[in-house]
Amino acid sequence: MSLPTPVTGSRAVVTGASSGIGAALAEGLARRGHSLILVARRKDRLDALAERLRRAHGIEVEVRAVDLADREARATLCEELSTRTLTVLCNNAGYATYGDLADADAERERRQVELNCVAVHDLTLAVLPGMLSRASGAILITGSTAGNQPGPRNTTYAATKAFANTLAESLHGELTGTGVVCTLLAPGPVRTEYGEAAGVSNLDELVPAPLWVSAEDAAEAALNGLAAGRRRVVPGAFAKVQTVGGQYTPRGLVGPIMRMVYGRLR
Ligand SMILES: NC(=O)c1ccc[n+]([C@@H]2O[C@H](COP(=O)([O-])OP(=O)(O)OC[C@H]3O[C@@H](n4cnc5c(N)ncnc54)[C@H](OP(=O)(O)O)[C@@H]3O)[C@@H](O)[C@H]2O)c1
Repeated sequence: MSLPTPVTGSRAVVTGASSGIGAALAEGLARRGHSLILVARRKDRLDALAERLRRAHGIEVEVRAVDLADREARATLCEELSTRTLTVLCNNAGYATYGDLADADAERERRQVELNCVAVHDLTLAVLPGMLSRASGAILITGSTAGNQPGPRNTTYAATKAFANTLAESLHGELTGTGVVCTLLAPGPVRTEYGEAAGVSNLDELVPAPLWVSAEDAAEAALNGLAAGRRRVVPGAFAKVQTVGGQYTPRGLVGPIMRMVYGRLR
């Protein structure tokens, strides 16, 4: 299998395209000739990326400045996307929080669930009927190694990414033979604005520099995996070790280890 061939009027959608992995996914799709719909809240960033990609790749780029944690705004976008000819949907927007759940800002945690879980579900449901009727389409869901095991002091994020990981791999199984593919991107540490968005400044102290993956490498691995119809893409050696450790270490052991590790973040 390969990525659907772009045709006149078709679009690939990337959420969280204003920075990090999403911006790199947009770049990678543009290089492959896909015209784009870029989604995030920061319109200035999306406009700048759109202009750069139009000039560099001769593609069409539309911008949708949407808060995907807002149900009404999201519903409007989903309604539009359900009527468009989409080659690819990259469900990538997301953020994390760290610290004890009891001390957390409840609204920020709720929005995290809306963005990392409900929006991914809504957008996927919006585009699936069209892709299935055309027997052509590719859906990428950005989960995380954080979703492979309990994550005390990263509780909401770990739970949302367990949802994303399971949604992607389950849907991958359902779509066999339909012409539509769903692939999970489950990265470990990737150099982006992730730490800043999570409000922590010392992620570098937890993960030595050589173990970080660039957003470009993560995105390229994801798009190649999507094109190959893979179930799961885990970019980088460290993330692969994390994945095996997270899945096979007894939960009674891995929970306290994660609690200690996350307890060092500030
Ligand atoms: N970096 C890592 O180490 C890592 C590891 C595993 C998984 N991930 C996952 O990778 C994905 C991309 O994150 P990243 O690392 O590239 O971080 P990032 O640089 O912070 O990018 C996050 C993107 O999500 C968008 N976003 C956040 N809240 C949004 C909202 N309410 N509505 C619409 N868009 C929103 C942001 O745009 P605006 O602020 O402009 O809205 C931004 O474009 C996330 O799902 C993250 O959980 C990251």
